[in-house]
Amino acid sequence: MCGIIGYIGNKHPKDVLLSGLKKLEYRGYDSSGIALINKDNTQIIKSVGKISLLEDKIDKEKLIDSFVGIAHTRWATHGEANEINAHPHRIGKITLVHNGIIENADSIRNKLVKEGVVFNSETDTEVIAALINKYYSGDMEEAINKTIKDLKGSYALSIICDSEPDKLYAVRCESPLLLGIGDNEYFVTSDIGAILNYTKKYVLLGKDEVVSLSKSGYKITKDGEVINREVFVSDLKNEDNDLFGYEHYMIKEIMEEPTLVNNLIKKYANNLDKLPDISKYKHIHIVGCGSAYYVGLVGKNFFESDGIDVQIDVASEYRYRNIKYSKNTLVILISQSGETADTIAAMRMANEKEIDTLAIVNVDGSTIARESTYKVLIEAGREVAVATTKAYILQVLILSLLSYKTHPDKYYLDDLMRLPQQLKILLDKTGFHKKMADKVYKKKDVYFIGRLIDYAICLEGSLKLKEISYIHSEAYQAGELKHGTISLINKGTVVFGIVTDDDIRDKTLSNLEEVIARGAVPIYIGNRDEKYKNKIIVPKIHKKLQPLLVVPTLQLIAYYVAYKRGCNIDKPRNLAKSVTVE
Ligand code: AGP
Repeated sequence: MCGIIGYIGNKHPKDVLLSGLKKLEYRGYDSSGIALINKDNTQIIKSVGKISLLEDKIDKEKLIDSFVGIAHTRWATHGEANEINAHPHRIGKITLVHNGIIENADSIRNKLVKEGVVFNSETDTEVIAALINKYYSGDMEEAINKTIKDLKGSYALSIICDSEPDKLYAVRCESPLLLGIGDNEYFVTSDIGAILNYTKKYVLLGKDEVVSLSKSGYKITKDGEVINREVFVSDLKNEDNDLFGYEHYMIKEIMEEPTLVNNLIKKYANNLDKLPDISKYKHIHIVGCGSAYYVGLVGKNFFESDGIDVQIDVASEYRYRNIKYSKNTLVILISQSGETADTIAAMRMANEKEIDTLAIVNVDGSTIARESTYKVLIEAGREVAVATTKAYILQVLILSLLSYKTHPDKYYLDDLMRLPQQLKILLDKTGFHKKMADKVYKKKDVYFIGRLIDYAICLEGSLKLKEISYIHSEAYQAGELKHGTISLINKGTVVFGIVTDDDIRDKTLSNLEEVIARGAVPIYIGNRDEKYKNKIIVPKIHKKLQPLLVVPTLQLIAYYVAYKRGCNIDKPRNLAKSVTVE
């Protein structure tokens, strides 16, 4: 997924690049690097591991004088996380950083090797530098345009050239990249959040639009033709990057949930007309990845209870299915970042078939927010921790409000008004959650069981636990266990029983008894008191709101388990916040 940033202006780029990389670290953090250029020299410094290690290395180096630089933080796709494969990559005069995947890199590499090009790394990225270097004969725009014609795949690139030390170049296809406009200084970055402390003014770049930047300005061309692009002003707050005294972004973002839920309720509860009217659609497809898909599963339960025909799928499958859309179908796309490659492809598939798409996203100006027929912004502010928490809760709340809008009932609004306070009280009971975490943090395997909407909740609880604590955790439909998986239950195996749906409460409780009979240690999370020793009772509220009290509890338990295991909670290994490659 990677994060890239480039700078040209009156300042030495070091501080801009490093502060930018730190804000882009959620996109990948296995290695990083910077490159600086002046008329005599191009200096590259790379490091394995987190940005602070690169910073230590840079502090020990004598940096060249410069006002142009590029930098990168990596989530390895081609070649392991080591210093050679870290970006920037350099061939001949060309040094660049890349976010994306070049699918035909091997065939290009083989051709270039025959032409005598020597490659140092295992990356697909290096072939791009080799191509630009091959095509460069004094005109960078021309060399870049020739190069992108040879490339198949996704790329966001920031490029410098020894022969043009006072210039910076950039181009993108699929992968996100925007141009930041400061006072006599310019930035290219994967995410506006990386430059908010310098400017809020940005330009969105279209596919294969080449940007040439100098100290005095910028030019955008497409196939050599100069084009103008609108300048936007971000409303993101820089302080979203602040921890406000919390030790981790994840716990900070969980504790923000009551206020953010209250804000959305104030915005929509009595102004439902502000939300799209989905009553005309007879069929709803919900698509997302990871936690976003699990948000959709909760939404499926809401809409099915309204009698609507709902299909749901993970985007990486949905995009390759041969779907026959019937008339009156709405495709709902769930995404925090709005830049998840598979979800973008699913959206474009529906758009191409002229099927209405509704995006429920956090990042305004993201590809999914821009290209969907309708969009609802969840207004979570920046979500920095890789494991989503507040975005999940606000996306479920929007689906709940959409369902209530088409199928209102008299109990919903009262419960809705009580929700923020109930959630605050629940999250303040950190002692309870830590006690449950004590039962889990030494375990190798953990299971979650529930039925229908409780199963959807189990899936998110299980993902939160495994992605930040690295404990092997699985969620199962409670009735499914006895068809095989129950053989994994042993003396002391921890099994979370999620029970909020009264219609099937007894069924799930008897499934919990089945695992207890085989030595399992139950942890009961429900909205009615039960006999279990390990339990958290959440207030009983409307079915279409109940997940909003149970999932935060599971988020908090997962946080304390990872905390007790000393895990890197905000940046779990092998993960990235926004998955911009397939
Ligand atoms: C969740 O904690 C993960 N970060 C991941 O599953 C995430 O939900 C998924 O990658 C989808 O991201 P999106 O919401 O930005 O599209």
